[in-house]
Amino acid sequence: MSIPQHIAVVMDGNGRWARQRYLPRVAGHRQGVESLRRCVRACEASGVKVLTVFAFSSENWNRPEEEVSGLMDLLITALSGEVKPSHESGVKICFVGDRSRVSERVRAGFTKAEKLTEGNQKITLNVCFNYGGRWDIAQAARKVAAQGKEITEEALEAEMATAHVGDPDLLIRTGGEYRISNFLLWQCAYSELVFSDKLWPDFDEAALDTALEEYAQRER
Ligand code: IPE
Ligand code: IPE
Ligand code: MG
Repeated sequence: MSIPQHIAVVMDGNGRWARQRYLPRVAGHRQGVESLRRCVRACEASGVKVLTVFAFSSENWNRPEEEVSGLMDLLITALSGEVKPSHESGVKICFVGDRSRVSERVRAGFTKAEKLTEGNQKITLNVCFNYGGRWDIAQAARKVAAQGKEITEEALEAEMATAHVGDPDLLIRTGGEYRISNFLLWQCAYSELVFSDKLWPDFDEAALDTALEEYAQRER
């Protein structure tokens, strides 16, 4: 079976997962972190080398303040509790997105996690936080312009926020919606798209296998 080297995931459906259980939305996000940990392990076991996940979009700031602050708290908890075990299992963690709007504390946590895990080679986990596909193209163009270079595809490519990993072979969106929602607009030009009805907290090893099988069938 042909295995994608790089998978990107729009982890959608945490809120609905919580609602189904009469829980606050943030409980769904908390379960989403568990699901991500499981997904990283399953991807690594399947031979996937890069996993790029959409954790918080540029547009997610528009959510109710309570939910945004719950997500920031969860991020801080994850930075202090998840990074070390990930490092021990050989995961290289990178944060992708506009860091100017996140707190100093979160920024420091990002840098610390990246430094700690930079030599790991089992799998690379890119966590897209305060990320937007349009932001990415614009920031790449600004960098190319600042270097006084002509704006070419190659020059932009080299400055995209995911230039360290290249383009995803497969993009999965969970949660039953059929949208890109401003994720990797430039990078998904040729990615296979697979949509899963599973809500992200329910996206388990079997659901990943189903997506991988669909990918392998299309590659044939
Ligand atoms: C995705 O789940 C996680 C984030 C956007 C942070 P949602 O919160 O969008 O869950 P639904 O789509 O409302 O179920
Ligand atoms: C996309 O999901 C963003 C993340 C998964 C972080 P959303 O739930 O925010 O996207 P829309 O609102 O359905 O387009
Ligand atoms: Mg959603």
